[in-house]
Amino acid sequence: MDKLRIIGGQRLQGAVTISGAKNAALPQIAASLLSDQPLELTNLPAVTDVENMLGVVTRHGAQIKRSAHGAVIDTSTAVSRETSYDTVRRMRATVLVLAPLLARFGEARVSLPGGCAIGARPVDMHVRALSTLGADIDIENGLIVASAPTGLTGARIVLSSPSVGATETAIMAATAARGETEILNAAREPEVADLADCLNAMGAHIEGAGTHRILIQGARAWRPAVHDIIPDRIEVGTYAVAAGITGGQLELTHARLEHLASVVQLLEAAGVSVWPGDRGLVVAREGPLHPVDLTTEPYPGFPTDLQAQFMALMCCADGASLLRETVFENRFMHVPELMRLGANITLQGTTALVRGGEPLKGAQVMATDLRASVCLVLAALVSEGETTINRIYHLDRGYEQLDRKLRLCGARIERVSA
Ligand code: UD1
Repeated sequence: MDKLRIIGGQRLQGAVTISGAKNAALPQIAASLLSDQPLELTNLPAVTDVENMLGVVTRHGAQIKRSAHGAVIDTSTAVSRETSYDTVRRMRATVLVLAPLLARFGEARVSLPGGCAIGARPVDMHVRALSTLGADIDIENGLIVASAPTGLTGARIVLSSPSVGATETAIMAATAARGETEILNAAREPEVADLADCLNAMGAHIEGAGTHRILIQGARAWRPAVHDIIPDRIEVGTYAVAAGITGGQLELTHARLEHLASVVQLLEAAGVSVWPGDRGLVVAREGPLHPVDLTTEPYPGFPTDLQAQFMALMCCADGASLLRETVFENRFMHVPELMRLGANITLQGTTALVRGGEPLKGAQVMATDLRASVCLVLAALVSEGETTINRIYHLDRGYEQLDRKLRLCGARIERVSA
């Protein structure tokens, strides 16, 4: 298993090319199963979660033509309607194939995702959305067995909370349902809006994605489509923290300010400046880091996927900050590892109290999930001496060439093959 070795203390300077959004790519690859016409996705990030999702649709019978950052997915011959436990266990987002398979074939069998490192993460809202559209759903031997032999029918779906995945499931199923579907309390994440843009290019008719209320006119004819995936706002936020934590200056190409309002507000409050550049956003820090409190929330609130990175930043601010996690339970796996680097953090339920300002010192640490791993990389960039991060396959799931991108900006980071 590969490790990362990082020598801290370098000020980062340069440009980082931001990749396509992993969390936009995954549902769009799943959505290719809806249509019998080819879908070409461009700006696909080269990360293992995307490779795995392409593997899932291939196992359902799709033919895929790859290029470096693109894929043409042809599911005209798709046959298999069942996804195995082994596939879902490795990546929870695999559950996103349930709605397209059901909508297209009238039946689907997808394994229930197991528990995972950041909480139980149930799929009850996905299942309820599909039932509202007329599907019969049973749970048999750990499989979600969904059927709608005479097709799905448009309806009003009221989500009990704005789940990203459940909103995506509801949208995909509704595109093939008879009549109109209204989704209320929908997730407003840019990745949901990007899925709708992709589906509209494929022939769907979706309005209001990116707001709380989405309207879908179902049962349209599919057509061949090309869709360019939005830049990864979580990758942007991660490199913005890298610039801030090292007191450097980075230009983040393709970064979109409109996706990052809550993040930029907190960066500025912490003493990190952000301004538009010719090719994206420029992020820099000259003065001291200030402590800031934050609460994770659904979009447009502060994203849970950047909580761990901001905790690393706050370890270096002179003073105390409170970080409250409201989206997932058990998303503080990085705390004990940060403490191995010398961070002073107290956990109380869903809140972490970070007393920053003491220098961090290099140590051996272990990556436990994607965002926890990258938070350790950020902390290591400013830790005295050498830090070794084990189990970095988590990083490769969601960050394209993280070590190379950081090295090009002056970080002393190398990948060591075990
Ligand atoms: C997506 C993102 C993930 C991000 C999260 C929140 C992808 C592939 N992943 O995950 O990176 O951290 O949004 O922004 O896009 N819940 C239920 N029942 C359900 C569905 C969700 O209780 O049926 C709960 C979850 O356990 C969690 C909360 O709702 O506590 C939010 O989850 P959700 O928005 O669905 O996250 P994902 O779509 O899984």
